[in-house]
Amino acid sequence: MPYKKAKIPSKYFQNLFNSLPSLNGKTIAITGTTSGTGLVAADTCLKLGARVLVLNRPSDRFKTSLEALKTENSNTEVLSVNCDLQSFNSVRQAVQEIHELCPNGLDVLCNNAGVMALEDVPTEDGFDVQMQTNHLSHFLLTKLVFDLLEKSADLNGEARIINHSSIARKQVKKLEPKYLKKNGGNLGGNGSSIFFGGARWTRYGQTKLANAAFTACLHSKLSLKNSNIKALVAHPGFAITNLQSTTVKDGGMGRLFTKILMKTAQSGEDGALGILNCIASPNVESGQFFGPGMGGMFTAIKGPARGFNLEPTYDNPQTRELLWNLSCEAIGEEFII
Ligand SMILES: NC(=O)c1ccc[n+]([C@@H]2O[C@H](COP(=O)([O-])OP(=O)(O)OC[C@H]3O[C@@H](n4cnc5c(N)ncnc54)[C@H](OP(=O)(O)O)[C@@H]3O)[C@@H](O)[C@H]2O)c1
Repeated sequence: MPYKKAKIPSKYFQNLFNSLPSLNGKTIAITGTTSGTGLVAADTCLKLGARVLVLNRPSDRFKTSLEALKTENSNTEVLSVNCDLQSFNSVRQAVQEIHELCPNGLDVLCNNAGVMALEDVPTEDGFDVQMQTNHLSHFLLTKLVFDLLEKSADLNGEARIINHSSIARKQVKKLEPKYLKKNGGNLGGNGSSIFFGGARWTRYGQTKLANAAFTACLHSKLSLKNSNIKALVAHPGFAITNLQSTTVKDGGMGRLFTKILMKTAQSGEDGALGILNCIASPNVESGQFFGPGMGGMFTAIKGPARGFNLEPTYDNPQTRELLWNLSCEAIGEEFII
């Protein structure tokens, strides 16, 4: 029997939606919009009047979600860009298209897409499938559209880069170099215990710590340059999306355990509040972390998103340097800000 998602009503989404300003005139790119928080974010930005670029890999899910976004938002412009985050080559091709579609710049890049607790397999580039999808390809994407973000920041006074982290960043003590190197398929195997250090979850935790550390790096470098580009990060608590279904299918979580655990969760809409604050709230500051709380597994799983400070576990010179240097090494390019 397949894992069946619980139906949990949204509690906070409408309030935030009502408080958000028009996004008319803004161009916003979001990765991973076939379901979950990315789909909610894309739909919300379109309803608020933005021009939205959705970056996805090809699939039937992608076709269905794109049709739904177009039907729901016939007065605004949704543009689809093919981008498979398991492949640096695909990201590079996507970036060419983004440059053609955004001659006047890009106001927001939301690095949302992610996978969780998948098997220990390498990508075509040789990296862990979770690390490349969740962080390394987003690092490359950010680097390659940085000129467009700078253009918008110059023309319109600001631009934003948003990363999507998780409570799982707290499951690992520190960022470890081996997870950012070409060790895909050789990173501990397929242990799936969430609470007792299963290797699938350690790898996921490393990716989500990398998302937060990447934000800390960007914030530090952008602040030194007095840039008008803001670096922000969010986490959704526990939100009912396709993330858990994909993990269950891959063997990373048991069906029954997932069903019970996710009864404590919030809706996908409420899970999108963190990234939506980062994308659209007028009063955010670079270096903020939006989520329902900053605690671990049992204290930050649901509620309205609020802004917190980055945490010293990753916002420190050693971790920032490690993340930046190894990410540049992985993509084979310098990223100079
Ligand atoms: N839901 C939660 O409780 C939770 C908790 C903590 C953090 N998060 C984070 O929230 C973010 C969004 O996840 P979600 O919960 O909304 O899950 P979701 O419903 O599974 O959405 C994930 C999105 O990422 C896309 N994606 C996966 N691999 C990709 C690839 N190689 N190339 C391009 N797109 C790819 C998926 O597209 P496909 O349809 O092509 O697979 C999908 O659109 C993730 O970064 C996740 O780590 C979620």
